Amino acid sequence: MNIALVGFGSVGKGVAQVFSKKQDHLRQKYDLSFSFKGIFTSKGAFLDPNGLDLQNILNTKDLTAHPSWKKDLSFMESIDDLDVDLVIEVTPTNIEDGEPGKSHIISSIKKGCDVVTANKGPLVVAFNELTQLAQQNDSILRYEGSVAGGIPVFNLVRKSLQGNTIHSLKGILNGTSNFILTQMTYERTSFKSALKTAQELGYAEADPTYDVEGIDAASKTVILANGLFGMNKGIDDVYIQGITKVTPEAIELAGNDNFLIKHIASIEDGQIEVAPRLIPVTSTLAVNGTLNVISLQTDLAKEITIIGRGAGGEETASAILSDVINIHCARTTLS
Ligand code: HSE
Repeated sequence: MNIALVGFGSVGKGVAQVFSKKQDHLRQKYDLSFSFKGIFTSKGAFLDPNGLDLQNILNTKDLTAHPSWKKDLSFMESIDDLDVDLVIEVTPTNIEDGEPGKSHIISSIKKGCDVVTANKGPLVVAFNELTQLAQQNDSILRYEGSVAGGIPVFNLVRKSLQGNTIHSLKGILNGTSNFILTQMTYERTSFKSALKTAQELGYAEADPTYDVEGIDAASKTVILANGLFGMNKGIDDVYIQGITKVTPEAIELAGNDNFLIKHIASIEDGQIEVAPRLIPVTSTLAVNGTLNVISLQTDLAKEITIIGRGAGGEETASAILSDVINIHCARTTLS
C-alpha cells in the first residue's frame, strides 16, 4: 500500500511513529506492507518515490536539511504526480469552511485514492458531500480518529453492532472541559487555573474557547449524528452551551445531592446538543480527568458504553491505523 501523509503536527507525527513501530505487526498479522511516498507539512514536503524512512524523518532535527525535503511544495500541487493508494489527512481542523483538509480529501477521492482522516473540519462542513463523492468514485473514506481520538466508536458500530438500531447517544467528547470540571469538582481549582493546566498538558485546542465554549464537542457530535445516525446536520443544528458559566457553587450544590456537572453531548429524537448537565455520580458517564466517554442506546444490545482517551498523537494514530487496516482488508478481500 502506497501512502501519502498530509499534516505533520502531533497527530501526523504520531501516525509516522506508529506505522514505523507496527511495521512487522502489520506484515505478520495482516499481510500489509506499506510505503510512505510523501509527507506534507505546512512548510513543504518530504517526497521519495522509493518510500520514505519514517524513523529517519522523525529523528531529523532540521527537517529542511533532509535530502527528500521540498520547500513550499504543497499536497495540492503534488497530487497528480503521486503514486499512492491511500491518503491520510490530518491537517489542522477548520470548522469555518473545512479547508485545506476538504480540498485535500476531495482531490484524493477524485484521484481514486482511499482516504483516512482525523480532521473534524471537512466532516463537519461537508459530511454527506464527502461520503457521497467517495461512494461515486469507489473510494473508501474513514474517519475513526475524528471523534474521541482513541475510542473506536464508528468501527464498533460498523463491525460489531451492525444488526442493532442505535436509538440515542450521550457522551463526553471534550477532554479539556472534562478536565476543568473534574479539577473544579474534586480539587476545588478555579476555572482559570484548571484551563491553564489543561493547556500545559497539550489537550486544549490552539484557541481554547473552542473547548470551553463547546464548539469542539459540538463538531464531534455533528460527525456522530451524520456518521452513526445517517443525519444531515451542521454545526448550526446543534444547541451549544459551554462550561464557562459553571460556577463552583453550582458544582458544590450538585455534589450535596450526589450529582456531578458534566459537559454532555446528546443525540436523541433528531435533536443534538452539547451542554452542562447534572448526572448521578454513579452514572456510566461519570468519567474524570481528560477521559472521553460515549454511551449508545441500542435496540438489541441495550446500553453500550466505551471510555477512553479523546486526544493524543498515539491514541489518534491508533484509530487511523485501524481504518487503514480495515481498508487494506476490504480491498484485499474484494480483489
Ligand atoms: N481539544 C480537544 C479535547 C482535543 O480537549 O478533547 C481532541 O479533539
